[in-house]
Amino acid sequence: MSSHPHLVLSGMQPTNTLHLGNYLGALKNWVKIQDEMPCLYCVVDMHALTQDSAYGHPKEVAQSTREVTAAYIASGVDPTRSTLFNQSQVHQHAELAWIFNCVARLGWLDRMTQFKEKTGKHKERASVGLYTYPVLMAADILVYRATHVPVGEDQRQHLELTRDISQKFNNDFDAPDFFPLPEPVITGHATRVMSLRDGTKKMSKTDESDYSRINLVDDADTIAQKIRKAKTDPNPLPDGEKGLEGRPEAENLLNIFAALAETPRDAVIARFAGQTFSVFKNELVDLAVEKLTPIAAEMTRLLADPAEIDRILKRGAEAASELAAPVLKDVKQLIGLIG
Ligand code: TYM
Repeated sequence: MSSHPHLVLSGMQPTNTLHLGNYLGALKNWVKIQDEMPCLYCVVDMHALTQDSAYGHPKEVAQSTREVTAAYIASGVDPTRSTLFNQSQVHQHAELAWIFNCVARLGWLDRMTQFKEKTGKHKERASVGLYTYPVLMAADILVYRATHVPVGEDQRQHLELTRDISQKFNNDFDAPDFFPLPEPVITGHATRVMSLRDGTKKMSKTDESDYSRINLVDDADTIAQKIRKAKTDPNPLPDGEKGLEGRPEAENLLNIFAALAETPRDAVIARFAGQTFSVFKNELVDLAVEKLTPIAAEMTRLLADPAEIDRILKRGAEAASELAAPVLKDVKQLIGLIG
């Protein structure tokens, strides 16, 4: 059993706008877990620099950092209860990441599927930052000795790497249990929300088609249009779990409904059994508009006062630094760095 007190850390990249996958896969769970343990929520602006849409676009990085902060708060992350900050203001993340670069092995990073998916055949053109990205993520988590990490399914492999780094560090420096083995918290009906245009592809910020995703800032009409245009198949909705086999679009839309309504998926299936997609989509539009438009409205309100957002981030960064500093000091001592 780990002796580490329960502590949550998670983060999102400020690149483009957040979408329904970010919300259902992660943010919604962040809000809930605030009632169970102390939480740190980070806007990972240094990770964003690994993306073409952010690197070389300073205004967009700053704007998106504020937008993502506003999205956290508008979704229910409470900055008076949770520590909310941007990664680059807490220098211990980058320092620990360097040390972890010396712990992690090339073979481990070579196995990262997200890197392979993002670079395709052009690995040699990718930045070194994109390659070592999961090492910085491990530092984000372990610099606080966080024990729980609420994320979507796509982050599972990165968290396994975090655990490998933690374990190797503890072994190499003969410091059993110095770092915890953080647990992924991957829960809910929508741990992997799929594209509205193709039920076999993940909903993503970088998909060319805006119709593939619902953005948190979309208005009611846009949400309705995207859901009505979402790809389906010609059959009516199934009357049981088995009927979903080979129907990824139906499965995805039912998962989204269940997650938004916070109802078990089998109850949603039972409710719409045998109905046409158009009947189901009308209900899904109403539900999505009801749940998402208040978030967009609150984001707009918060973004009208960027100085207040910056103050929240600064306060959070100061609190986070206080937690990270003693851990980094102990790390340095363990590995023989003077000072
Ligand atoms: P990012 O910014 O790609 O995504 C943020 C969160 O949203 C989840 N997510 C999804 N969940 C369900 N369905 C989807 N289609 C979907 N798309 C995204 C992600 O799983 C994630 O939880 N590496 C991380 C950021 C990060 C981090 C950390 C996370 C950096 N340091 C430390 C946790 C702890 C990332 O790129 O997430």
